[in-house]
Amino acid sequence: MKVLMINGSPRQGGNTSIALSEMVKVFEEEGAEAEVVQIGNKDIRGCIACGSCREKGRCVFDDVVNELAPKFEAADGLVVASPVYYASANATLIACLDRLFYSTGFDKTMKVGASVVVARRGGLSATFDELNKYFTICGMPVASSQYWNSVHGREKGQASGDLEGLQTMRVLARNMTFLMKSIALGKEKYGLPQKEEWQPTHFIR
Ligand SMILES: Cc1cc2nc3c(=O)[nH]c(=O)nc-3n(C[C@H](O)[C@H](O)[C@H](O)COP(=O)(O)O)c2cc1C
Repeated sequence: MKVLMINGSPRQGGNTSIALSEMVKVFEEEGAEAEVVQIGNKDIRGCIACGSCREKGRCVFDDVVNELAPKFEAADGLVVASPVYYASANATLIACLDRLFYSTGFDKTMKVGASVVVARRGGLSATFDELNKYFTICGMPVASSQYWNSVHGREKGQASGDLEGLQTMRVLARNMTFLMKSIALGKEKYGLPQKEEWQPTHFIR
């Protein structure tokens, strides 16, 4: 089992890193291989809707997004984590995810997704919903925990004191591993669900 974990925080060793580290410990115990890539401190521009990815299968801007693409393709699960900024995900992470999901043509069906949000106090569930939408537009089942996947803290390190938040991360990683293993078995036995050809209508009649 392989899990790609994208950390949208610009702060090295910040609260989002603490939340993800709690998950990594469980993935290791469960024999899943986890890789964390921190992108919040990178220069990542937004999508310019040029459409060249449809021909080339990769983003026209050759940065960390194109490095993440093969890792995502090889992964059984994807964790996307963000600090909350103005009740939303960090803008760099959104630029990265828009381009990563839009530019990659590989089948994401039944790769398990989980989002993690970290904040001082508010905007957590709005951000959680925002991030889960990347999974639910492309056939990715969403792993959940005992609570919405949030951890509290403001200054670096404060997340270590949110014991319930960290427990939520551990349970999330265990549930996610179970789902990934179960899906691997299901794929062996039944294969992936039958596909239908896309019928785009764009609300134009
Ligand atoms: C620009 C900015 C906006 C923020 N907006 C919010 C917010 O809407 N709600 C909140 O509770 N915390 C907010 N925070 C606090 C961060 O979410 C919090 O410090 C978090 O722990 C940062 O995670 P990190 O250490 O992984 O970067 C904001 C911080 C910054 C820098």
